[in-house]
Amino acid sequence: MSEKIAPQDTCVLVTGGAGFIGSHTVVELLTRGYQVVIVDDLSNASAKVMDRIKTIVGEPAAANLTFYEADVNDRAALAKIFDEHRPSRVIHFAGYKAVGESVSKPIEYYANNIGNTLTLVDVMREHGCKSIIFSSSATVYGDPDSLPLTEESPKKPATNPYGWTKWMIEQILTDLHTADPEWNVVLLRYFNPIGAHPSGLMGEDPKGIPNNLVPYVAQTAIGKRDAVHVFGDDYDTPDGTGVRDYIHVCDLASGHAAALAWMNGRTGVEVFNLGTGTGTSVLEIIKAFSKACGHEIPYVVDPRRPGDVTANYADCSKARDLMGWEAKFNIEDMCRDSWNWQSHNPDGYEG
Ligand SMILES: NC(=O)c1ccc[n+]([C@@H]2O[C@H](COP(=O)([O-])OP(=O)(O)OC[C@H]3O[C@@H](n4cnc5c(N)ncnc54)[C@H](O)[C@@H]3O)[C@@H](O)[C@H]2O)c1
Repeated sequence: MSEKIAPQDTCVLVTGGAGFIGSHTVVELLTRGYQVVIVDDLSNASAKVMDRIKTIVGEPAAANLTFYEADVNDRAALAKIFDEHRPSRVIHFAGYKAVGESVSKPIEYYANNIGNTLTLVDVMREHGCKSIIFSSSATVYGDPDSLPLTEESPKKPATNPYGWTKWMIEQILTDLHTADPEWNVVLLRYFNPIGAHPSGLMGEDPKGIPNNLVPYVAQTAIGKRDAVHVFGDDYDTPDGTGVRDYIHVCDLASGHAAALAWMNGRTGVEVFNLGTGTGTSVLEIIKAFSKACGHEIPYVVDPRRPGDVTANYADCSKARDLMGWEAKFNIEDMCRDSWNWQSHNPDGYEG
């Protein structure tokens, strides 16, 4: 058993906490009374999100947030932050996440995602901090043999370097626990996070052309892109387009808080799917978003993309039974909140 600590006495170091999922999770943690230290190099985020987080949580919770602009690969900087704050838990979001880019930049992806994880866990070990929650992905399941996907579904070979980094980091953290059973590792396999904070103050702020469907739909809805590209309409699904399990980013955030509470006082390695359990097609997303923004969204059908699977959705009963967590928001909520964010912040945080 690891030491059980109350939230107000728990300092959680959040790598990548300025990013999309990280920032929403930090709001959730501060609201629940945790002390939070963000380490983010701002390679894919804006420092302006700190003020938004503080506005949402208000005082006194805002006073429990500290931000360092630092690269997790920078061992000396990271060790200094651990010396100063002595975090007892880490949530590790920091990494590159663009699947297509990872194919053209494998060295950068392996160096950053795997390299920073090795630096992080080594510094954690030196400081006696052995509790980590890692941002994994449904990508580790590859092309599923059967649906829904449970945590017992087999991991499949990845189809791109990004996917391999998730695959390998899961293995690295599992091996760490084998070598030292005092480690407490939670691997959260996210399905497709979308949506934004209902306040309209925080959301996904992709740099350049969005890699994911919903930010692309949102930018098309606001007139920044001409049409959504639907990759393939001849899949074996009800309307021929790919089916995914979309999850509201605020549900994902509460999933991290649930995992923190659940891991408190434990050791081991545990895997949880975080999704809604419902599959939604690309065309259904476009339709729901059209309803949210009040006008039709143009789309064109392009050929299938290599590596895209027909359908995936999660069985989330393990997270419900063990951690008492369930997603609350549906597709309409997700599209409404994405649109609220996009329409109030057409140029993201820099607007
Ligand atoms: N968004 C998704 O669809 C999705 C799905 C499954 C898993 N994930 C994983 O969840 C995590 C967070 O995803 P996100 O969507 O919030 O992405 P994001 O890019 O918004 O957040 C990642 C953050 O990490 C920071 N970062 C990157 N490398 C760093 C480094 N070396 N040191 C310090 N900071 C660094 C970036 O500046 C960014 O703020 C990532 O690990 C991602 O792979 C995301």
